[in-house]
Amino acid sequence: MIKYNFFDNLITKLDKISFVDLKKIFIDLSDKYSNIRTVFNSMAEGVLVIDSEESVLFYNKTGCRLFQIQQISEGTSLKNAISNTKIYDLLKRLISKNDKIITEEIKLENEKYSYLQFSVYPLVKDGKIIGTIIIAEDITEKKESENKLKQIESIQALTTLTAGIAHEIKNPLGAMSIHVQLLEQEISKCKCVISEDLMYSLNIVNEEIERLNEIVVNFLYSVRPMTVNMTLTNLNEYLDKIIDLAQPEMQAKGIKFHKDYEKLPAVWLDENIFKQAVLNLIQNSIAAVENKKGIISIGAESRGSYVYINIKDNGDGIPDDIQLKIFDPYFTTKSYGTGLGLTIVYKIIREHKGEVTFSSGKGETVFSIRLPVPFNEKGLIEYDG
Ligand SMILES: Nc1ncnc2c1ncn2[C@@H]1O[C@H](COP(=O)(O)OP(=O)(O)OP(=O)(O)O)[C@@H](O)[C@H]1O
Ligand SMILES: [Mg+2]
Repeated sequence: MIKYNFFDNLITKLDKISFVDLKKIFIDLSDKYSNIRTVFNSMAEGVLVIDSEESVLFYNKTGCRLFQIQQISEGTSLKNAISNTKIYDLLKRLISKNDKIITEEIKLENEKYSYLQFSVYPLVKDGKIIGTIIIAEDITEKKESENKLKQIESIQALTTLTAGIAHEIKNPLGAMSIHVQLLEQEISKCKCVISEDLMYSLNIVNEEIERLNEIVVNFLYSVRPMTVNMTLTNLNEYLDKIIDLAQPEMQAKGIKFHKDYEKLPAVWLDENIFKQAVLNLIQNSIAAVENKKGIISIGAESRGSYVYINIKDNGDGIPDDIQLKIFDPYFTTKSYGTGLGLTIVYKIIREHKGEVTFSSGKGETVFSIRLPVPFNEKGLIEYDG
């Protein structure tokens, strides 16, 4: 910069101006130079200027970092100035096409990845190319968010595709289930002797259809957007009904069951969808205690503007090293699990403006659902349905 403007001005005026004026020009130029340097050094982009011999004329503060410039003096060659050979090789290639403006990206592997973008412009004076201006930009954040977006888009595309397939599987499964039931009815009507093997096979078919259906339904629940249809619900009656659904399995597995709630306030629920969340938690508790003297309790209480529903079991607890992962889709420690149960619970509770938390230690695990209690200006809204 100084080289091409400062000296030109000075030389043409040198023999016509007085010493005092010359001093003024010096001070003026020095100020201007210092201002321009400050501007360049404040830029987020790195700037590096070289002459046609590839000697460094100028670089700014950011440039020093992005070009990885070593300690240099004026006139140092580009090769000696730039410590990183990957950056040097790229610049060398770009400079060789110096009559055009070229932009290229580079991925560097330091402690973590970083992405830089270099743009090369010809430095022109009096219509002649006398060097090159190189601008460097750190595009790591932009690149990472672009990559994330691409990943999200491909996951979304895959999710839509698999949701479509899952939906297509559901219909034939329904038909299979109906036909197995018809077959069972026909068998029970006919007076012939049915072999144990045949009944065993039919049972297996039934169980596997049910298992497959559960996998498909869980998958669809976890990936589809949820539309909730809220009604103001009497929580006492509602929880009683859910317990009625779960109790036969607990009884069959010899699990003791307690319920612990008194009069609860009404809450807004999608009765069908919310039921899935509570049943998933009960199902996890059943799995946690089924091989021991299991006790499961469902408690509920209202505190302040929230109601808490607690599902407690005396299983072995959730090991510390997996506690952060249990809500992740497909995380499971069970050979027969899909790992979608808690993902669905989380999604459902969030749709209800609630929160699900847990605490777990050896011999006790409690999952707690917190739901907001609706208020009006007179206080609590009582359920009158
Ligand atoms: N009450 C609990 N006691 C001990 N571990 C639990 C309990 N609830 C959840 N877990 C742990 O969290 C994991 C994830 O649970 P999640 O309900 O998401 O999937 P899953 O139960 O394994 O499979 P699926 O729900 O599809 O049958 C379980 O595999 C289990 O390791
Ligand atoms: Mg589960």
